[in-house]
Amino acid sequence: MGKENAILMSSKIFSYTTPLEKEYLWELAYNNIPLHGSALEIGSWNGGSSVIIAEACRIFSSSLLCIDKFCGDLDGTAPQYKKDPEVIYRFVKNVECCPINIVIADASDIYKFLADNVFDFVFVDGNHYLPQVEIDLINCYRILKPGGILCGHDFVENEELNPWDVKKTVNKLFSGRYELRESIFTVRK
Ligand SMILES: C[S@@+](CC[C@H](N)C(=O)[O-])C[C@H]1O[C@@H](n2cnc3c(N)ncnc32)[C@H](O)[C@@H]1O
Repeated sequence: MGKENAILMSSKIFSYTTPLEKEYLWELAYNNIPLHGSALEIGSWNGGSSVIIAEACRIFSSSLLCIDKFCGDLDGTAPQYKKDPEVIYRFVKNVECCPINIVIADASDIYKFLADNVFDFVFVDGNHYLPQVEIDLINCYRILKPGGILCGHDFVENEELNPWDVKKTVNKLFSGRYELRESIFTVRK
């Protein structure tokens, strides 16, 4: 149990989240998930980041809700289940010991069921392109409790190297209010 176990579990799961980012994600989750709290992840893929957040949740008797359409496509634009029909099975196997609840759906279809101010910690790593990334960030901020942490992956400084819209959208919505470490941004509500 604890950080070493979380990082070890995650290291066995294929992910583009780097070892330094995993360390930071643990730190964020561990320091911000309260006793009997609730965490949310948008975009879980194989579970590489999920196990880290979930293991922090375990320490505080909290739980993690993972929402992913499990299409196996990094930007979420492939027709569902076409590119990688095995991804959901890998995810379930990778997280089977973790305190995780799973919703297999497009996040856009689920936000309307989530009330304002309910989550202590939200990690966004779904579709990195507009308009979805903006839909995700607006909704995830809305459902975050006051004082909670919204964080997300793949804020890349050099947009020429990478055409994602994460940096642009974070700057539009949270200008002057976010912190950045590696490619993970954080905003406190
Ligand atoms: C970059 S991967 C997540 C990587 C994972 N967090 C990790 O650290 O390894 C993006 C995931 O977001 C999911 N996704 C993309 N758009 C989505 C949407 N609108 N709703 C739900 N899931 C989405 C994809 O299915 C994919 O599994």
